[in-house]
Amino acid sequence: MQAALNIIGAEMKSVEQQFVKDLESDVPLIRKVGEYVLSSGGKRIRPALLLLAAHLCGYQGNQAVPLASVIEFIHTATLLHDDVVDSATLRRGIASANTLWGNEASVLVGDFLFSKSFSLMVAVGSMDVLRVLSNATTVIAEGEVLQLLCTGELDLTEEQYVGVVRSKTAILMSAACEAGAILGAVSPEKQQALANFGMDLGIAFQLMDDTLDYIASEEEFGKSIGHDLEEGKITLPLIHTLRQCNQKERDVIAAVVEKDEMSLDEFREVSGLVKRYGGIEYSIASARRYIDACSAHLELFEAGPVREALLDLAGYVVTRSR
Ligand code: IPE
Ligand code: IPE
Ligand code: MG
Ligand code: MG
Repeated sequence: MQAALNIIGAEMKSVEQQFVKDLESDVPLIRKVGEYVLSSGGKRIRPALLLLAAHLCGYQGNQAVPLASVIEFIHTATLLHDDVVDSATLRRGIASANTLWGNEASVLVGDFLFSKSFSLMVAVGSMDVLRVLSNATTVIAEGEVLQLLCTGELDLTEEQYVGVVRSKTAILMSAACEAGAILGAVSPEKQQALANFGMDLGIAFQLMDDTLDYIASEEEFGKSIGHDLEEGKITLPLIHTLRQCNQKERDVIAAVVEKDEMSLDEFREVSGLVKRYGGIEYSIASARRYIDACSAHLELFEAGPVREALLDLAGYVVTRSR
């Protein structure tokens, strides 16, 4: 991400200062939980996308930093809620907020961040940005509910899975890029191209996240490995495996998916099948195809360091280990 930092490093620092201002609240627990999560070392991919997209579109005003902060607020709110729903104990290598303060506080502070995001967006004053970001938050909520409905569904198809991924993850990255384009007041074609770039990057990002859930080192990834399987989430490495394996192996997977708790041996057995049937390679290859499409989306834009930085960020998505 060095190429990106060369261009937006100073603005990213301002985004960090903006968070502190935007967390302003008379309720001490909100600041405490909010600061804990916001200062725990997120990768800041979404604000980086927004700032780079704005640069690519020639924007020179002062609304990109506040909007980049809003995007990270929305992301943080979804993580607070997501960790409750997923019963996650680890986030960014440290105890998740729900582990420290409980589910109630996580849900309520997540609500605060969501609501605050909307006040901040209104202050920015662009109806088009408001439309794109409010659509994104609605779609994310739909995606998370859809995923809940798909829990333990061994017959989930790749298409259905990608549909959930678009909604729960990719839409926010798409909206970040599109918001940057709106600030730059580019043509509808360019705005759509950046939205498509963010969407494909976001899909690849989640495909890699779901792959890393099988193969990463917990220390680097900062989240519990095997947690998707334990929670009954049927992700692409497993979908591919289920399409290839025999009935006996399918029964083994089904038994682990259905159980509330998973032992290390059970995880090893299923992840062994996933590896043997090429589920990891399949998912990575699929993520790479989405990233390849990303470069095509940017062809409308002038070549140069900003476009390169966005493509570099896209490349990072498929090589990351955290
Ligand atoms: C985590 O997103 C949630 C997913 C969409 C997989 P990130 O991996 O961008 O989270 P942080 O902010 O860098 O921790
Ligand atoms: C993240 O999905 C999607 C949202 C936060 C909306 P995951 O559940 O896969 O993300 P992690 O693995 O908890 O970060
Ligand atoms: Mg989760
Ligand atoms: Mg995950």
